[in-house]
Amino acid sequence: MMRGMTIYLYELAWMLPSVAIPAAMLVALIVTAFGAGIHVPGVEGRVDPTKFAETAPFNEPGVVEVEPSRYEVRMIAGIWFFSPNEVRVPAGSTVTFIATSRDVIHGLALHDANINLMLLPGRVARATVQFNTPGEHLFVCHEYCGIAHHTMFGKVIVEPRQR
Ligand code: CUA
Repeated sequence: MMRGMTIYLYELAWMLPSVAIPAAMLVALIVTAFGAGIHVPGVEGRVDPTKFAETAPFNEPGVVEVEPSRYEVRMIAGIWFFSPNEVRVPAGSTVTFIATSRDVIHGLALHDANINLMLLPGRVARATVQFNTPGEHLFVCHEYCGIAHHTMFGKVIVEPRQR
C-alpha cells in the first residue's frame, strides 16, 4: 500500500509540471500576442518588382511626412543597398516602414526599435515605430544576400525637435 502510494506521488510530481509548463507557456504566448501586441509580421500587400517605376509608393522611395509627426519610409532593398539608406526624422515621430525587395530576399533589422522584417520580392512588409529620443540607429540587412551582404546598412537619425 505505502509503496504503491509513493510511486503514485512520485509520478504525480513529474506529471504536474509536464502539464503546468506547457500551459504556462501557452498563457504567456496569448498574453504577449494579444496584450502586448507582439505578432509575426504578415504580408501587407503585393507588388510587382519589375514595375516599381509605376507602382506607388515605391515609384518614389524616400521619407515622406504624411501627417504632422507621422512619417512613411518607402523603402526598396536590392543588391546591395537600401533606398533610402538614411532616414531623418524629428524626435517624437511615428515612423512607418513600408519596404520590399527588388531582387532577392533581404532583411531589415533595426534592433533599437525592435524591427525585424523579411523583404521578399513581390511582397510588401510594414512596421510602425515611434522614435522619442534623439540619436542614431543602425539598420542592417540580416538575410544573407550575396557577396556584399555585409555592406547593406543604413541609419535612422532622430533629430532634436525644434522648439
Ligand atoms: Cu541584403 Cu543581406
